[in-house]
Amino acid sequence: MMAHGNPTARPDTAEPAWDRASWRALERIQMPDYPDPAAVRAVEAQLRQYPPLVFAGEARRLKSQLALVGAGRAFLLQGGDCAESFSEFSADNIRDTFKVMLQMAVVLTWGAQLPVVKVGRMAGQFAKPRSAATESVDGVELPSYRGDIVNGFDFTAESRVPDPRRMLQAYTQAAASLNLLRAFSTGGYADIHRVQSWIADFTGGPEAARYRDIADRISDAMAFMQAAGVTAETAHELSQVDFYTSHEALLLEYEEALARIDSTTGHPVAGSGHMLWIGDRTRQVNGAHVEFCRGVQNPIGLKCGPSITTDDLKALVARLNPANEAGRLTLIARFGAGMVGDHLPRLIRAMQDEGANVVWSCDPMHGNTIKSANGYKTRPFDSVLREVREFFHVHKAEGTVPGGVHFEMTGQDVTECTGGVRAVTDEDLSSRYHTACDPRLNASQSLELAFLVAEELRARRTGVSGDLQAAV
Ligand code: PEP
Ligand code: CO
Repeated sequence: MMAHGNPTARPDTAEPAWDRASWRALERIQMPDYPDPAAVRAVEAQLRQYPPLVFAGEARRLKSQLALVGAGRAFLLQGGDCAESFSEFSADNIRDTFKVMLQMAVVLTWGAQLPVVKVGRMAGQFAKPRSAATESVDGVELPSYRGDIVNGFDFTAESRVPDPRRMLQAYTQAAASLNLLRAFSTGGYADIHRVQSWIADFTGGPEAARYRDIADRISDAMAFMQAAGVTAETAHELSQVDFYTSHEALLLEYEEALARIDSTTGHPVAGSGHMLWIGDRTRQVNGAHVEFCRGVQNPIGLKCGPSITTDDLKALVARLNPANEAGRLTLIARFGAGMVGDHLPRLIRAMQDEGANVVWSCDPMHGNTIKSANGYKTRPFDSVLREVREFFHVHKAEGTVPGGVHFEMTGQDVTECTGGVRAVTDEDLSSRYHTACDPRLNASQSLELAFLVAEELRARRTGVSGDLQAAV
């Protein structure tokens, strides 16, 4: 069993003592103040008895695949809901997001000529950090919604009270989601043969013609493989996929209760998901979230927004990856279109100076949120694409590896982000705006972005830009 007593006061030395509760000695930010501490303790005791959702060997396997990403030998695709919700939980939703991610991965594999490591923001992405503690509607002020694992979305005083029993429902939903994802991953679900049919509704315009051209080339490659005898029956890789889960490690009571000791290595591991990340609001180097994450052996993501200083990043990397292990740390840049050039080069150079082993990934969502004229929180497709392109261009100039992309997306046909070939306009936003938090790319926008990123990846390999390829 893991030590669970009071953590020793932390001197500022390189490797201070850690246990899964040592975060409790630090400031509690972005976490709820539960009105009933006894109820919290009862839930924690229950979760501690439950089986972990993932096993240490899986987290280590993901880490080794991320090490390949860092070395430019694989590409990372991370995506899913901003916030999973209890009400939108269904087999169809899980299947559709899984399916679009596999389709995107096929397109990216073609572009990069590399394996794609697939990581869902799924089976645990429930807790949300908020910029304001309260929100007001028509003069009524209530505590902010903090994700279904904490309180309710309904704008009533009752629903906004944090309820620890929600952690048990989140665990159950995560377990059922993961069960289905594991079944899809090993059950030969992945239908990757009909690339053209995925984009049948991309009509008109030069973009659609370019995507059709890529789809034709992918189909040719698949037909060749099949003719050469490489089929799902003969090649294990075609009937099974590795699919991993991830979420923001925000609600530390939940994370602590699901942490376990890995019987193979004797080291702690988070049992709530394969990869955990630290949000842009909770990345204080001496903060509770960094403290929890530094002690578990899972791969860790770190969101890097415009306010991160070079010294902050160096200190965080030293604390989160003291052994400089490849694949341990993914830096998820989220600056906003037009801002990447101001921040990414200085951070990349700092990591190069330190000789730090990191994976660079691009989250083009969180720096590009705007309010539409009719009052919806949205993200223009063009800003998302522009940020991705800036990320690639900076890495090219610095001679470093653009390792992956991180999207808020869904397999559903929602209208939350504007733009794309099947254009969503400001006026469309009200028709299918279902997110519990931030606006997501819909299935068509997600796939389109994969085509555009594939062009960037191909240009990187061949030295020919996407636009020039379009002309040939
Ligand atoms: C998120 O990923 O949903 C999120 C809140 O991101 P960030 O911490 O980068 O703002
Ligand atoms: Co979000």
